[in-house]
Amino acid sequence: MERALHLGVAGATGLVGGEFLALLEKRRFPLASLRLFASARSVGRRLRWGAGEIAVEDLATADPRGLDVLLCSAGKRVAAEQAPRFAAAGAIVIDNSSAFREDPAVPLIVPEVNGARLRDWLAGARSGATLARGGIIANPNCTTIVLLLPLDALRRAFGLEEVVVSTYQAVSGAGREARDELLGQARAFSLGEPETWRHYDRPIFLNVIPKIGDWVGADCFEEVKVVRETRRILGAPDLRLYATTVRVPVERCHSASVFARLGRPATEVEVREALAGAPGVALEDLPTPRELARREEVFVGRIRVGPDDGRVVRLWIVSDQLWKGAALNAIQIAERIAADGG
Ligand SMILES: NC(=O)c1ccc[n+]([C@@H]2O[C@H](COP(=O)([O-])OP(=O)(O)OC[C@H]3O[C@@H](n4cnc5c(N)ncnc54)[C@H](OP(=O)(O)O)[C@@H]3O)[C@@H](O)[C@H]2O)c1
Repeated sequence: MERALHLGVAGATGLVGGEFLALLEKRRFPLASLRLFASARSVGRRLRWGAGEIAVEDLATADPRGLDVLLCSAGKRVAAEQAPRFAAAGAIVIDNSSAFREDPAVPLIVPEVNGARLRDWLAGARSGATLARGGIIANPNCTTIVLLLPLDALRRAFGLEEVVVSTYQAVSGAGREARDELLGQARAFSLGEPETWRHYDRPIFLNVIPKIGDWVGADCFEEVKVVRETRRILGAPDLRLYATTVRVPVERCHSASVFARLGRPATEVEVREALAGAPGVALEDLPTPRELARREEVFVGRIRVGPDDGRVVRLWIVSDQLWKGAALNAIQIAERIAADGG
């Protein structure tokens, strides 16, 4: 039985926060009330909601009581501090940062892929059996989510032995400051003015940077997250998965080139059917990021099988990482909580 929820959005003034508000409205989320939170810097701001406005509260000092669900998108450090406080006060916190993704007690959820895990966790939470660290659910990394929908479709239909992925990730994936840096450099370039940079260690305009996040040995942290989270969600700890993550001067929507080796040979028709039938996946001849912003699906194109090995599949994937990679995935989790009776 669906129940309207008392909902909070933490990080409401950020890029993901803005998409939360847009999607809650677009999807007519069942709301009993809505509270918005950000840092102390934003206190005094009022954000548009429906025909009116809502005043932003300071997350650190706000009263956490009374919320059913907190959609949290305020960074890892803030989530580590604030999510347990809100969970202890009774809210289910759906966190977009990497703070809790590796905690085995915290479910890491993509509803189309492991929605059953969410159902079990909610049932346990209700009976008081599994709330080891309050009610925290982790939203996976944006690239992980976008890759997982088509990879899970292939795995279910044919088995999956090996995946090699190279990503082409939009600057908005790193937040407002990074997005504004690209746009500022483009403006400065067109005016013949000097470009400046702060978020990245070199210009991103007219450039590509094959490193996202800090180094973790020979890999960067984004690559580590994609591998660890994909294995965890698929329950495939030995899946051979190799990632190279690259920041490109695209404003919005992540893209990825995927080479997958299946468990058994398949035809192109079979692969197309498996992908077309997968929830949240749409086929598109030539998906490109600019055209697919603010779309909910993960788009898959350039589908090739073989030519000399029927187990080899190559794909080109594009999806709006601010939507399915972040805000939409979290809202879909919250919708399941509402459908479950809150
Ligand atoms: N961008 C993406 O595509 C994407 C995808 C998946 C996950 N995520 C994750 O989502 C989170 C937010 O990303 P974003 O892209 O929206 O970043 P952003 O545009 O930089 O926004 C950051 C938000 O966090 C708030 N915040 C910062 N410090 C805070 C504090 N001390 N207390 C309370 N709120 C604070 C900011 O509020 P103020 O305005 O008051 O500073 C702002 O609302 C990050 O954890 C990121 O890893 C982002």
